[in-house]
Amino acid sequence: MKEILKLLKKDFQEKLSQAKSREEIENLERKYLGKKGKISKLTEKITESPPEERRELGKAINELKEELQKKIEEKYQSISVSKYRDPETERLDVTLPGKKTPVGHLHPVTQTIQEIEDIFHKLGFIRRRYPEVETDWYAFEGLNMPKNHPARDIWETFYIEKDMVLTPHTSSGQIREMERVGWPVRMINISRCDRRQSDINHLPTFYQFEGLVIDERINITHLKGTLDFFVHEFFGNERAYRLRPYDFRFTEPSFEIDVTCSLCGGKGCHYCKDGWVELGGAGMVHPQVLKNGGLDPKKVSGFAFGWGVERAFMKKGNLNIDDIRILYQNDLRFLEQF
Ligand code: DAH
Repeated sequence: MKEILKLLKKDFQEKLSQAKSREEIENLERKYLGKKGKISKLTEKITESPPEERRELGKAINELKEELQKKIEEKYQSISVSKYRDPETERLDVTLPGKKTPVGHLHPVTQTIQEIEDIFHKLGFIRRRYPEVETDWYAFEGLNMPKNHPARDIWETFYIEKDMVLTPHTSSGQIREMERVGWPVRMINISRCDRRQSDINHLPTFYQFEGLVIDERINITHLKGTLDFFVHEFFGNERAYRLRPYDFRFTEPSFEIDVTCSLCGGKGCHYCKDGWVELGGAGMVHPQVLKNGGLDPKKVSGFAFGWGVERAFMKKGNLNIDDIRILYQNDLRFLEQF
Protein backbone atom coordinates (compact mmCIF):
# COMPACT_ATOMS: atom_id res chain seq x y z
CA MET A 1 0.00 0.00 0.00
CA LYS A 2 2.80 2.37 0.89
CA GLU A 3 4.28 1.67 -2.47
CA ILE A 4 1.03 2.64 -4.11
CA LEU A 5 1.02 5.94 -2.22
CA LYS A 6 4.55 6.67 -3.34
CA LEU A 7 3.74 5.99 -6.97
CA LEU A 8 0.62 8.08 -6.77
CA LYS A 9 2.57 10.98 -5.36
CA LYS A 10 5.24 10.73 -8.02
CA ASP A 11 2.69 10.52 -10.75
CA PHE A 12 0.85 13.53 -9.33
CA GLN A 13 3.99 15.65 -9.10
CA GLU A 14 4.93 14.92 -12.66
CA LYS A 15 1.55 15.87 -13.96
CA LEU A 16 1.35 18.98 -11.81
CA SER A 17 4.69 20.21 -13.02
CA GLN A 18 3.43 19.96 -16.58
CA ALA A 19 0.19 21.81 -15.90
CA LYS A 20 0.21 25.29 -17.37
CA SER A 21 -3.26 26.63 -17.05
CA ARG A 22 -5.84 27.04 -14.35
CA GLU A 23 -8.04 24.44 -16.07
CA GLU A 24 -5.29 21.86 -16.09
CA ILE A 25 -4.69 22.32 -12.37
CA GLU A 26 -8.40 22.13 -11.69
CA ASN A 27 -8.59 18.86 -13.64
CA LEU A 28 -5.74 17.38 -11.61
CA GLU A 29 -7.34 18.51 -8.39
CA ARG A 30 -10.57 16.79 -9.33
CA LYS A 31 -8.78 13.63 -10.45
CA TYR A 32 -6.74 13.24 -7.25
CA LEU A 33 -8.58 15.08 -4.51
CA GLY A 34 -12.17 15.14 -5.77
CA LYS A 35 -15.03 13.13 -4.25
CA LYS A 36 -14.48 10.30 -6.67
CA GLY A 37 -10.76 11.00 -6.99
CA LYS A 38 -7.82 8.68 -6.45
CA ILE A 39 -7.33 9.57 -2.77
CA SER A 40 -10.98 8.87 -1.98
CA LYS A 41 -10.68 5.50 -3.64
CA LEU A 42 -7.62 4.66 -1.52
CA THR A 43 -9.48 5.64 1.65
CA GLU A 44 -12.21 3.20 0.73
CA LYS A 45 -9.56 0.50 0.46
CA ILE A 46 -8.36 0.93 4.05
CA THR A 47 -10.97 -1.59 5.22
CA GLU A 48 -9.37 -4.19 3.01
CA SER A 49 -6.05 -4.01 4.89
CA PRO A 50 -5.24 -5.92 8.09
CA PRO A 51 -6.70 -4.12 11.17
CA GLU A 52 -3.30 -3.37 12.76
CA GLU A 53 -2.16 -1.46 9.67
CA ARG A 54 -5.34 0.56 9.15
CA ARG A 55 -4.51 3.34 11.57
CA GLU A 56 -1.12 4.03 10.12
CA LEU A 57 -2.43 3.78 6.58
CA GLY A 58 -5.21 6.25 7.30
CA LYS A 59 -2.64 8.66 8.67
CA ALA A 60 -0.39 8.26 5.62
CA ILE A 61 -3.28 8.85 3.24
CA ASN A 62 -4.33 11.95 5.13
CA GLU A 63 -0.80 13.31 5.08
CA LEU A 64 -0.55 12.67 1.37
CA LYS A 65 -3.87 14.40 0.84
CA GLU A 66 -2.71 17.49 2.70
CA GLU A 67 0.56 17.51 0.82
CA LEU A 68 -1.17 17.34 -2.54
CA GLN A 69 -3.53 20.10 -1.51
CA LYS A 70 -0.61 22.31 -0.54
CA LYS A 71 1.17 21.63 -3.81
CA ILE A 72 -1.92 22.51 -5.78
CA GLU A 73 -2.27 25.78 -3.96
CA GLU A 74 1.36 26.61 -4.58
CA LYS A 75 0.90 25.82 -8.22
CA TYR A 76 -2.09 28.10 -8.51
CA GLN A 77 -0.04 30.87 -7.01
CA SER A 78 2.95 30.18 -9.18
CA ILE A 79 0.98 30.50 -12.39
CA SER A 80 -0.70 33.70 -11.38
CA VAL A 81 2.59 35.16 -10.17
CA SER A 82 4.49 34.11 -13.26
CA LYS A 83 1.66 35.52 -15.39
CA TYR A 84 2.19 38.98 -13.93
CA ARG A 85 5.91 38.73 -14.00
CA ASP A 86 6.07 37.70 -17.62
CA PRO A 87 7.93 40.59 -19.28
CA GLU A 88 6.30 39.85 -22.61
CA THR A 89 2.79 40.44 -21.39
CA GLU A 90 3.67 43.00 -18.79
CA ARG A 91 5.54 45.36 -21.06
CA LEU A 92 3.90 48.76 -21.23
CA ASP A 93 4.60 50.98 -24.22
CA VAL A 94 3.70 54.46 -23.10
CA THR A 95 4.31 55.83 -26.60
CA LEU A 96 1.41 53.87 -28.12
CA PRO A 97 -1.64 55.99 -28.99
CA GLY A 98 -4.45 55.56 -26.48
CA LYS A 99 -7.63 53.63 -27.17
CA LYS A 100 -10.35 55.96 -28.39
CA THR A 101 -13.78 55.55 -26.88
CA PRO A 102 -16.31 56.02 -29.65
CA VAL A 103 -18.08 59.34 -29.18
CA GLY A 104 -21.38 59.98 -30.90
CA HIS A 105 -22.76 63.26 -32.13
CA LEU A 106 -26.13 64.88 -32.55
CA HIS A 107 -28.35 63.48 -35.26
CA PRO A 108 -28.15 65.56 -38.49
CA VAL A 109 -31.80 66.54 -38.08
CA THR A 110 -31.13 67.83 -34.55
CA GLN A 111 -28.09 69.70 -35.86
CA THR A 112 -30.29 71.24 -38.55
CA ILE A 113 -32.94 72.26 -36.00
CA GLN A 114 -30.26 74.00 -33.96
CA GLU A 115 -28.88 75.75 -37.02
CA ILE A 116 -32.33 76.97 -38.09
CA GLU A 117 -33.02 78.17 -34.56
CA ASP A 118 -29.71 80.08 -34.51
CA ILE A 119 -30.31 81.73 -37.89
CA PHE A 120 -33.75 83.03 -36.91
CA HIS A 121 -32.51 83.98 -33.49
CA LYS A 122 -30.25 86.52 -35.20
CA LEU A 123 -33.39 88.18 -36.56
CA GLY A 124 -35.04 88.23 -33.13
CA PHE A 125 -37.28 85.20 -33.59
CA ILE A 126 -38.01 83.25 -30.41
CA ARG A 127 -38.05 79.45 -30.51
CA ARG A 128 -41.36 77.84 -29.65
CA ARG A 129 -42.65 74.31 -29.39
CA TYR A 130 -46.33 73.52 -29.67
CA PRO A 131 -48.23 70.28 -28.98
CA GLU A 132 -47.75 67.18 -31.08
CA VAL A 133 -51.40 66.25 -30.58
CA GLU A 134 -53.79 69.00 -31.54
CA THR A 135 -57.47 69.86 -31.67
CA ASP A 136 -59.26 70.29 -34.97
CA TRP A 137 -59.64 74.01 -34.19
CA TYR A 138 -55.93 74.84 -33.99
CA ALA A 139 -54.91 72.44 -36.76
CA PHE A 140 -57.60 73.29 -39.33
CA GLU A 141 -60.74 75.22 -38.45
CA GLY A 142 -59.02 78.19 -36.83
CA LEU A 143 -56.70 78.36 -39.83
CA ASN A 144 -59.60 78.97 -42.12
CA MET A 145 -59.56 75.50 -43.64
CA PRO A 146 -63.07 74.41 -44.61
CA LYS A 147 -64.48 71.08 -43.48
CA ASN A 148 -64.04 69.58 -46.94
CA HIS A 149 -60.39 70.64 -47.30
CA PRO A 150 -58.33 67.70 -48.62
CA ALA A 151 -55.81 68.02 -45.76
CA ARG A 152 -58.59 67.08 -43.33
CA ASP A 153 -59.18 63.78 -45.04
CA ILE A 154 -58.52 60.67 -42.96
CA TRP A 155 -56.04 59.62 -45.62
CA GLU A 156 -53.94 62.72 -44.98
CA THR A 157 -54.16 63.16 -41.23
CA PHE A 158 -53.92 60.78 -38.26
CA TYR A 159 -57.07 61.09 -36.19
CA ILE A 160 -56.86 60.21 -32.50
CA GLU A 161 -60.53 60.97 -31.87
CA LYS A 162 -63.13 62.83 -33.88
CA ASP A 163 -61.69 66.27 -33.16
CA MET A 164 -58.15 65.35 -32.12
CA VAL A 165 -55.33 64.80 -34.58
CA LEU A 166 -51.59 64.21 -34.57
CA THR A 167 -50.35 67.71 -35.41
CA PRO A 168 -50.13 67.72 -39.23
CA HIS A 169 -48.24 71.02 -39.56
CA THR A 170 -46.61 73.65 -37.38
CA SER A 171 -49.13 76.24 -38.59
CA SER A 172 -51.32 75.02 -35.74
CA GLY A 173 -48.98 76.95 -33.43
CA GLN A 174 -50.01 80.26 -35.05
CA ILE A 175 -53.25 80.79 -33.16
CA ARG A 176 -51.78 79.39 -29.98
CA GLU A 177 -48.99 81.98 -30.17
CA MET A 178 -51.43 84.85 -30.82
CA GLU A 179 -53.54 83.74 -27.87
CA ARG A 180 -50.49 83.49 -25.67
CA VAL A 181 -48.64 86.72 -26.47
CA GLY A 182 -51.11 88.89 -28.42
CA TRP A 183 -48.80 91.04 -30.53
CA PRO A 184 -46.06 91.79 -31.54
CA VAL A 185 -45.17 88.20 -32.46
CA ARG A 186 -41.87 86.95 -33.81
CA MET A 187 -41.78 83.20 -33.30
CA ILE A 188 -40.06 80.25 -34.89
CA ASN A 189 -42.02 77.14 -33.93
CA ILE A 190 -39.99 74.00 -34.62
CA SER A 191 -42.06 70.95 -33.78
CA ARG A 192 -42.85 67.42 -34.77
CA CYS A 193 -45.61 66.75 -37.29
CA ASP A 194 -47.31 63.60 -38.56
CA ARG A 195 -49.05 62.81 -41.81
CA ARG A 196 -50.21 59.66 -43.53
CA GLN A 197 -47.43 59.54 -46.08
CA SER A 198 -44.22 57.62 -46.71
CA ASP A 199 -42.17 57.67 -49.88
CA ILE A 200 -38.80 58.93 -51.10
CA ASN A 201 -39.87 62.55 -50.50
CA HIS A 202 -42.15 62.12 -47.47
CA LEU A 203 -41.86 60.83 -43.93
CA PRO A 204 -44.84 59.96 -41.74
CA THR A 205 -43.15 61.75 -38.83
CA PHE A 206 -41.08 64.82 -39.57
CA TYR A 207 -40.23 68.30 -38.34
CA GLN A 208 -41.42 71.64 -39.61
CA PHE A 209 -40.30 75.13 -38.75
CA GLU A 210 -42.94 77.79 -38.79
CA GLY A 211 -42.18 81.47 -38.72
CA LEU A 212 -44.83 83.96 -37.67
CA VAL A 213 -44.38 87.72 -37.49
CA ILE A 214 -47.23 90.01 -36.47
CA ASP A 215 -46.95 93.71 -35.85
CA GLU A 216 -48.23 97.00 -37.16
CA ARG A 217 -47.58 97.59 -40.86
CA ILE A 218 -45.99 94.24 -41.62
CA ASN A 219 -45.94 93.72 -45.37
CA ILE A 220 -44.57 91.39 -47.98
CA THR A 221 -41.15 93.05 -48.12
CA HIS A 222 -40.58 91.85 -44.55
CA LEU A 223 -41.31 88.32 -45.68
CA LYS A 224 -38.88 88.70 -48.58
CA GLY A 225 -36.17 90.15 -46.38
CA THR A 226 -36.52 87.27 -43.93
CA LEU A 227 -36.37 84.77 -46.78
CA ASP A 228 -33.26 86.43 -48.23
CA PHE A 229 -31.51 86.16 -44.92
CA PHE A 230 -32.47 82.58 -44.24
CA VAL A 231 -31.72 81.23 -47.71
CA HIS A 232 -28.27 82.81 -47.78
CA GLU A 233 -27.36 81.79 -44.25
CA PHE A 234 -28.63 78.25 -44.57
CA PHE A 235 -27.97 77.34 -48.21
CA GLY A 236 -25.14 79.74 -49.01
CA ASN A 237 -24.84 82.79 -51.25
CA GLU A 238 -24.75 80.88 -54.50
CA ARG A 239 -28.34 79.63 -54.11
CA ALA A 240 -31.32 81.64 -55.33
CA TYR A 241 -35.00 81.33 -54.41
CA ARG A 242 -38.32 82.34 -55.89
CA LEU A 243 -41.90 82.92 -54.75
CA ARG A 244 -44.53 81.04 -56.71
CA PRO A 245 -48.21 81.97 -56.25
CA TYR A 246 -50.12 79.23 -54.47
CA ASP A 247 -53.25 78.68 -52.44
CA PHE A 248 -53.14 78.23 -48.69
CA ARG A 249 -56.26 79.00 -46.71
CA PHE A 250 -54.51 80.71 -43.82
CA THR A 251 -52.48 83.19 -45.88
CA GLU A 252 -53.49 85.69 -48.54
CA PRO A 253 -51.61 86.11 -50.78
CA SER A 254 -49.88 82.73 -50.52
CA PHE A 255 -46.73 81.41 -52.11
CA GLU A 256 -44.62 78.38 -52.43
CA ILE A 257 -40.92 78.98 -52.04
CA ASP A 258 -38.47 77.20 -54.31
CA VAL A 259 -34.67 77.23 -54.08
CA THR A 260 -32.27 76.41 -56.86
CA CYS A 261 -31.35 72.74 -56.97
CA SER A 262 -28.14 71.85 -55.16
CA LEU A 263 -27.26 69.11 -57.63
CA CYS A 264 -27.27 71.11 -60.86
CA GLY A 265 -27.03 74.64 -59.45
CA GLY A 266 -30.30 75.60 -61.15
CA LYS A 267 -29.58 74.41 -64.68
CA GLY A 268 -32.08 71.56 -64.50
CA CYS A 269 -31.32 67.86 -63.93
CA HIS A 270 -32.96 64.45 -63.47
CA TYR A 271 -33.76 65.29 -59.84
CA CYS A 272 -35.30 68.77 -60.12
CA LYS A 273 -36.28 68.85 -63.81
CA ASP A 274 -36.41 72.66 -64.14
CA GLY A 275 -33.64 73.76 -61.76
CA TRP A 276 -35.88 74.51 -58.76
CA VAL A 277 -36.77 72.45 -55.70
CA GLU A 278 -39.68 73.21 -53.41
CA LEU A 279 -38.95 74.34 -49.88
CA GLY A 280 -42.41 75.07 -48.48
CA GLY A 281 -45.20 77.58 -48.13
CA ALA A 282 -45.43 81.21 -47.03
CA GLY A 283 -47.71 84.19 -47.22
CA MET A 284 -49.42 87.10 -45.49
CA VAL A 285 -51.55 85.97 -42.56
CA HIS A 286 -55.22 85.87 -43.52
CA PRO A 287 -57.35 88.47 -41.66
CA GLN A 288 -59.70 85.72 -40.47
CA VAL A 289 -56.78 83.89 -38.86
CA LEU A 290 -55.76 87.06 -37.05
CA LYS A 291 -59.34 87.40 -35.81
CA ASN A 292 -59.39 83.76 -34.71
CA GLY A 293 -56.26 84.49 -32.71
CA GLY A 294 -58.01 87.43 -31.00
CA LEU A 295 -56.22 90.17 -32.97
CA ASP A 296 -57.62 93.07 -34.96
CA PRO A 297 -56.69 92.83 -38.70
CA LYS A 298 -57.29 96.55 -39.06
CA LYS A 299 -54.57 97.23 -36.56
CA VAL A 300 -51.98 94.53 -37.22
CA SER A 301 -50.80 92.37 -40.08
CA GLY A 302 -48.33 89.55 -40.38
CA PHE A 303 -46.51 87.03 -42.51
CA ALA A 304 -45.95 83.32 -41.99
CA PHE A 305 -43.98 80.52 -43.52
CA GLY A 306 -43.75 76.79 -42.85
CA TRP A 307 -41.09 74.46 -44.18
CA GLY A 308 -39.85 70.94 -43.52
CA VAL A 309 -36.63 70.55 -41.56
CA GLU A 310 -35.62 67.27 -43.21
CA ARG A 311 -36.42 68.65 -46.66
CA ALA A 312 -34.35 71.74 -46.02
CA PHE A 313 -31.46 69.58 -44.82
CA MET A 314 -31.62 67.34 -47.90
CA LYS A 315 -31.54 70.33 -50.20
CA LYS A 316 -28.64 71.95 -48.46
CA GLY A 317 -25.38 70.98 -50.02
CA ASN A 318 -24.32 68.47 -52.56
CA LEU A 319 -25.77 65.67 -50.49
CA ASN A 320 -27.41 63.74 -53.30
CA ILE A 321 -29.70 61.81 -50.93
CA ASP A 322 -32.26 60.05 -53.05
CA ASP A 323 -34.58 58.84 -50.27
CA ILE A 324 -35.53 61.06 -47.32
CA ARG A 325 -36.33 58.01 -45.17
CA ILE A 326 -32.64 57.13 -44.79
CA LEU A 327 -32.47 59.91 -42.18
CA TYR A 328 -34.35 57.76 -39.69
CA GLN A 329 -33.02 54.31 -40.47
CA ASN A 330 -30.31 54.57 -37.82
CA ASP A 331 -27.62 53.38 -40.18
CA LEU A 332 -24.35 54.54 -38.64
CA ARG A 333 -22.57 54.39 -42.01
CA PHE A 334 -24.89 57.18 -43.10
CA LEU A 335 -25.14 59.13 -39.84
CA GLU A 336 -21.41 59.22 -39.14
CA GLN A 337 -20.88 61.38 -42.22
CA PHE A 338 -22.46 64.38 -40.56
N1 DAH B 1 -48.66 74.49 -43.23
C1 DAH B 1 -48.30 74.36 -44.60
C2 DAH B 1 -47.96 72.91 -44.91
O1 DAH B 1 -47.67 72.16 -44.03
C3 DAH B 1 -47.10 75.20 -44.94
C4 DAH B 1 -47.35 76.67 -44.84
C5 DAH B 1 -47.84 77.36 -45.93
C6 DAH B 1 -47.12 77.37 -43.68
C7 DAH B 1 -48.06 78.70 -45.88
C8 DAH B 1 -47.32 78.73 -43.62
C9 DAH B 1 -47.80 79.39 -44.73
O2 DAH B 1 -47.09 79.45 -42.53
O3 DAH B 1 -48.00 80.73 -44.67
O4 DAH B 1 -47.99 72.52 -46.04
